[in-house]
Amino acid sequence: MAHKSPLGGRRVVIIGGTSGIGLATARLAQELGARVVVASRTAARVRAATAVLGPEAQGLRLDAKREADVRRFFGKLGRFDHLAVLVPGATDKAQQRRLGTLAATEIAVARTVHDGKFWSSVLCAKYALPHLTRAGSITFCSGVSPRKALPGYWAPTTAIAALEALVRVLAVEAAPVRINCVGPGLIATPIMDTINESRKRVWRRMLQKQAIKRMGTPEEAAEAMVYCMTNGFTTGTLIEIDGGYKLT
Ligand SMILES: NC(=O)c1ccc[n+]([C@@H]2O[C@H](COP(=O)([O-])OP(=O)(O)OC[C@H]3O[C@@H](n4cnc5c(N)ncnc54)[C@H](OP(=O)(O)O)[C@@H]3O)[C@@H](O)[C@H]2O)c1
Repeated sequence: MAHKSPLGGRRVVIIGGTSGIGLATARLAQELGARVVVASRTAARVRAATAVLGPEAQGLRLDAKREADVRRFFGKLGRFDHLAVLVPGATDKAQQRRLGTLAATEIAVARTVHDGKFWSSVLCAKYALPHLTRAGSITFCSGVSPRKALPGYWAPTTAIAALEALVRVLAVEAAPVRINCVGPGLIATPIMDTINESRKRVWRRMLQKQAIKRMGTPEEAAEAMVYCMTNGFTTGTLIEIDGGYKLT
């Protein structure tokens, strides 16, 4: 049966919670009774997010690519109930510009994408798990690109595929803590400002083909993130919020 406040009294930590889908997840979790902690790299974004969320929310700085910082962060935080990790692969235009086909991409650049999308999730899970309650959960954020072959997108695609594989293994290893993943399609968030024109052309073609011919909202993706926290029988699962991207 649905509770009135399914996250009432729960402490929810959202890495990458200061913008886009992460911030929408924080807002929804708060509405459902949670005490939220949002974290990301930049002080300005942390300040802006806590201004939106109000004094009940805690905002902290963290670069989730840095192992020592992640270990220290969770060591200081104490017990909590649910973790969401929404760190992107590429975070700025310069990095995006340097991503292309395998032939055209420097391996060092591809590695930074894996550091953001895959390894930061691994680090957060590893150092958060000892502090999570047994009824708690971890929800990662993947994407849709492994469902089709997108030329020029191999680096993010392989990082996302690795993350989705991790979810299934970790759901067994970490039980009873539940481990899930939300795979957003095109969602209108500030990350769109970092996308270059050629990638935008690919995405416009995707929009024309998919069943629901618009971008999703951060709130629609956040609903899936919060579902993964609140449904006690859901684990090892990928929930795709993609407007029917893979159907056509
Ligand atoms: N929007 C889409 O269409 C779409 C599609 C597929 C998948 N996704 C995935 O959805 C997730 C959320 O993306 P979004 O669209 O909501 O993007 P967004 O609005 O740009 O938010 C990204 C968040 O991650 C934080 N962040 C970036 N690097 C970080 C790091 N190293 N350590 C800690 N925090 C970091 C950012 O804050 P700081 O800059 O302050 O660090 C920000 O809070 C990402 O994993 C993205 O790959 C999005």
